[in-house]
Amino acid sequence: MDSNRVLVFDTTLRDGEQSPGASLSVNDKVAIAHQLARLNVDVIEAGFPVSSEAQFDAVRRIAQEVDGPTITGLARCIDLDIDRAGEALKDAKKPRIHTFVATSKIHLEKKFRKTEDEILEMALKGIKRAKQYCDDVEFSPEDSARTGKDFLFRIVKAAIEAGATTINIPDTVGYSNPEEFGELIREIIKKVDNIHKAILSVHCHNDLGLAVANTLAAVRQGAQQVEVTINGVGERAGNASLEEVVMALKTRQAFYKKQMGINSKEIIPTSRMVSRMMGIPVQPNKAIVGANAFAHESGIHQDAVIKDASTYEIMTPTEIGLESNKIVLGRHSGRHGLKQRLQEIGYPLTPEDLDRIYERFLELADKKKEVFEEDLLALIAEESQDVTEAFQLEYFQILSGNHAIPTATIGLKHKDQVFREASVGDGPVDAAYKAIDKIVKMPLKLADYSLKGVTGGKDAMGEVVVHVTENGKRIIGRAASTDVIEASIRAYVNAINRVLFLKEKFTNGNSEKAQL
Ligand code: KIV
Ligand code: ZN
Repeated sequence: MDSNRVLVFDTTLRDGEQSPGASLSVNDKVAIAHQLARLNVDVIEAGFPVSSEAQFDAVRRIAQEVDGPTITGLARCIDLDIDRAGEALKDAKKPRIHTFVATSKIHLEKKFRKTEDEILEMALKGIKRAKQYCDDVEFSPEDSARTGKDFLFRIVKAAIEAGATTINIPDTVGYSNPEEFGELIREIIKKVDNIHKAILSVHCHNDLGLAVANTLAAVRQGAQQVEVTINGVGERAGNASLEEVVMALKTRQAFYKKQMGINSKEIIPTSRMVSRMMGIPVQPNKAIVGANAFAHESGIHQDAVIKDASTYEIMTPTEIGLESNKIVLGRHSGRHGLKQRLQEIGYPLTPEDLDRIYERFLELADKKKEVFEEDLLALIAEESQDVTEAFQLEYFQILSGNHAIPTATIGLKHKDQVFREASVGDGPVDAAYKAIDKIVKMPLKLADYSLKGVTGGKDAMGEVVVHVTENGKRIIGRAASTDVIEASIRAYVNAINRVLFLKEKFTNGNSEKAQL
């Protein structure tokens, strides 16, 4: 293997699925495995086949259906486990059996009541049995980080002699730290004389929040495979997170000097898929994939990022599959951030208009933590209260009922002339909107429609808010009436009038000089 290459072994579907509360159906697992193949991981640990029929099925189906990565299944150094793993993996193009036994004194005494020699014998027997199913066999001395070094070196050497092609060193309980774990890897490479015949792997848990740091320290010392999970999910506090390890190696390539096969643009889609399917939300400030990882709130930062993103970003959002960074508009935002966002949503304002909107924006930001695009649209809409009504509703007639095809006839006045059109639709509002579209002949799309009662009782006023888009620009229209159909029609006409009004200001007119 190329000495600069680091293999990415993903155990989201095995160790990751051991997260409290996470459980995936077989179909979910197959879907995630396909996504991991798109991410281009080198190895997918698909499950622990002996542990249940569902685990066996998931490993078998992934082995049959997912091309590209090596597919592995976990097995204790027990005949039944290895046979089940071998069976589940038999259709894989690149199968690997991953077998393990604990080697630390505490596990030997408390869990197994066995001697080191007995454990060694179990390990070798397990590896040899796995070799009957496939040539690619990984061996893990569980709890390596707390195992006496002499025994660890002895069992690693013997495992390679028995045929293990990958040796994985787990910090099973997340006890180690970067100096210590890096040193352990360095010593294994120095003291186990046949180590070069196997791939040296690491598997770190996050109990002290050091899983990624320990993994990177091991890579620095020569580890060639990293065992990781998407979003860092896993037993207890989880495993080293794939996206953090990968992006650290990629972003600091000049320091680590390592290559991987990962297609980093698939990181966000994979993270979101795993979070959704496992039902485990990603914390907002999670490195790389958290909602705030590329969000800038401070006005000083926003201003600098707009000038040059590298001022406050060490990776580009597009590298991991995000469309762009996020300027969070809130009370720390400056004029520049607001101006940029308004421009992005289609409103390049004059300095005077910007000053006015900025004042209103600050008042709003004081009340709301985050100001969303919708709030900006509402501010713009309020600023354009004096919109000229290019189209006015003259009349409407609706035919609707449980046995009738909803039909609307609409009359709109435009420049002293009344235009009339009729249309059928999926409901009375749809029919009315279609009839209006026929009259105004504009490329509008209805992006959102909401109706809420603004007063109580049977004669309640209904307020309708519609969002329409025209050439990618979003515009809000609103109206209220005791007749919800009328409110719906008036809100749509209101949006159309705003589109025309704003279009004149920002597209046809000289946008630099435009006044609201
Ligand atoms: O954490 C651990 O030790 C494991 C092994 C099975 C590799 O998950
Ligand atoms: Zn583990």
